[in-house]
Amino acid sequence: MTIETRKLDNGLLLIVAENPPVNAINAAIRQGLVGAIEQANGSDDVVAIVLSCKGRTFFAGADIKEFGNARKEGPTLHEVCQKIAHSTKPVVAALHGTVLGGGLEIALACHGRVAVEGTTCGLPESQLGLIPGAGGTNRLARLIGPKKALEFVVSGKQIGAARAEKLGVLDEVVAQNEVAAAISCALRMAQRGRFKSWSDDFPADFVVSTFEDFARKLTQKMANQDAPAACVRSVQRAMTMPFEEAIAADREEFARLSAGNQSLALRHAFFAERAAAKPKGFDIPGPVKSISKVTVIGAGTMGTGIAMSFTAGGIPATLIDTTQEALDRGLDRVRNLLATSARRGSISEEQAEQRLALLQWSRDIEQASDADLVIEAVYEDLAIKQDIITRLDALCDQSALIATNTSAIDIDLIAKDVRNRDRFVGLHFFAPANVMRLVEVVLGKETSAETIAASLWIAKKIGKVPVLSGNCDGFIGNRMVAKRGAQVDRLLLEGALPQDVDESLKCFGFPMGPLAINDMSGLDVGYAIRKRRGTPFPIADAVVEHGRLGQKTGAGYYRYEDGNRTPLPDPEIENLIASVSNAHGITRRTFSPDEMVARMIYPLVNEGARILEEGIALRASDIDAVWLNGYGFPRWRGGPMFHADSVGLSDLTKTLRDLARLTGDNSLTPAPLLNRLVADEMTFTDLDKENAEK
Ligand code: 3HC
Repeated sequence: MTIETRKLDNGLLLIVAENPPVNAINAAIRQGLVGAIEQANGSDDVVAIVLSCKGRTFFAGADIKEFGNARKEGPTLHEVCQKIAHSTKPVVAALHGTVLGGGLEIALACHGRVAVEGTTCGLPESQLGLIPGAGGTNRLARLIGPKKALEFVVSGKQIGAARAEKLGVLDEVVAQNEVAAAISCALRMAQRGRFKSWSDDFPADFVVSTFEDFARKLTQKMANQDAPAACVRSVQRAMTMPFEEAIAADREEFARLSAGNQSLALRHAFFAERAAAKPKGFDIPGPVKSISKVTVIGAGTMGTGIAMSFTAGGIPATLIDTTQEALDRGLDRVRNLLATSARRGSISEEQAEQRLALLQWSRDIEQASDADLVIEAVYEDLAIKQDIITRLDALCDQSALIATNTSAIDIDLIAKDVRNRDRFVGLHFFAPANVMRLVEVVLGKETSAETIAASLWIAKKIGKVPVLSGNCDGFIGNRMVAKRGAQVDRLLLEGALPQDVDESLKCFGFPMGPLAINDMSGLDVGYAIRKRRGTPFPIADAVVEHGRLGQKTGAGYYRYEDGNRTPLPDPEIENLIASVSNAHGITRRTFSPDEMVARMIYPLVNEGARILEEGIALRASDIDAVWLNGYGFPRWRGGPMFHADSVGLSDLTKTLRDLARLTGDNSLTPAPLLNRLVADEMTFTDLDKENAEK
């Protein structure tokens, strides 16, 4: 970490900060900045100041690792911002990269902001369960008005430089050399002698009731979370209280939120996702194999979604299928999805065209021969997959990676005839693959560390969250979800209704309930798997046997009206469920939402513990990354394993033991690892730490 100061002949002091990789603002940076501003203010030779950073970005925020440390060193970020704002010489920020959180707060405290094209700005604190803690909301609301400021802080999204300039967050955007432009700007300000960019004046037209209506609509889907409501309060204070008082209240709120469970969980999620991309034992010396051309075999829903993920990441992809009809359907799907994204504004028309231009298609599998990575994404049938993978092995360059996108089949079986199995890997994408961020990177018996490193690298490059998984039935996520499925069926059998089950998990924070999801995916696939394995689910099987296959037949656990995908409770299904319970001699009873949640979440944790014991997952936090990015687990609860730590492993284990006894279901018997952690008074987080230190 360094803070360099350079005095130029024209009286400008250039401050250059460096703290790789993202210039996170830690105690030393804060101390250095205060020192540099004081030095400039105390020197008659200095007329203006420019603040810049070395490396790939301006400050990308406060150092998250420092949060939660009881002892804070040196000046606070608020004090740094105040020092800058009250500088007697104008301070201009020269911005590049990702100007985020505390980084943007520092920039906002400056008297001017100049950015180079390509810079993005954001206040992502709400994504960490926080509000901007150093006056960011107050300065922003005064600068761009309360509604725009509220949207900005609640969403936590990054915006591009052009939009930030239009909003008034930036003063100037230049094509290159932002430092030179910032220097000119600072010197102009010094000459004019006026350099205030925000003020204590409140906009005259601030109407509390209109703002509250707007805020209610904006945050209505986030009722479970603390941070959005705190952002609303913060903007409201910015509009109604003197600056210093509003900031003091923000700082109290920030301290309260950062000590709370939701922020702890969200910070855990942040680090879990990054740790998952770096599995211990798979770091290879030297650069990873570069991947610049990808081929996807199979133009179905999965294949097109996977190809779209690569083109979205700027990587050319070729889709291959055997019939022109399948290719046409796949391409129509891609075009429609891109057009919808452009219409909704999530990408521009230009981006949609660029992505389409990166996509090629062919009926000839030979076209895969020059790809660096080929992913097979055809129907889940072992013989078909084996055939394709064996052909790819023969025709692709020996250095190319070959991957299967199976969600359930043993990947070593798929590769049994492959000659060079060290370059063979499972890449399990989640539907819809163009949206879902999770990719399970599945390790075959002979997959090399180089192949894993390249797979993790490419997945991260296209914006996915890769998690290494051992090769077992269902890998990490689906193996766990099967345990939840069994409990859902039992709950229905013992007295709950589909809408009760779904509602309890929605209240817990999942975006959809498991039964509505099953209806959406189609109930016949699971039915076929259960028949094959000989594991009956009495209710689920009866639903399918009554011809209710989910949304596609207009009825499943719910009924659906024509052209409408809203699940509607159905008295017919309630009768059917009651009759199956009756046939099993079960007296139906009611369940509290908490009991249902425990019955569905604790078995996940139990299976997660077994997965850890077997080494299928390397860390508990990897399991959390899987559930946060592939299964809609509420992020502010941190994932199933982090949630288990918050509940307390001792209580959770006792509940599992009681449930196993009550239901006679041995799969609910606590995993040995859970018993060991309880006996050692440890959490899953402690276990991860212990393993990291080994
Ligand atoms: N604090 C500490 N470490 C951070 C960090 C931060 N704010 N931001 C990133 N890092 C670390 C990551 O953990 C990672 O470490 P690792 O190499 O050991 O795994 C490394 O920097 C690189 O990060 P990424 O892998 O995420 O790199 P990318 O290039 O993909 O993304 C980024 C860069 C967009 C800056 C992304 O890291 C990011 O979004 N960071 C968080 C930004 C943020 O939330 N800032 C607000 C912090 S809260 C705050 O400022 C409070 C204030 O109001 C008081």
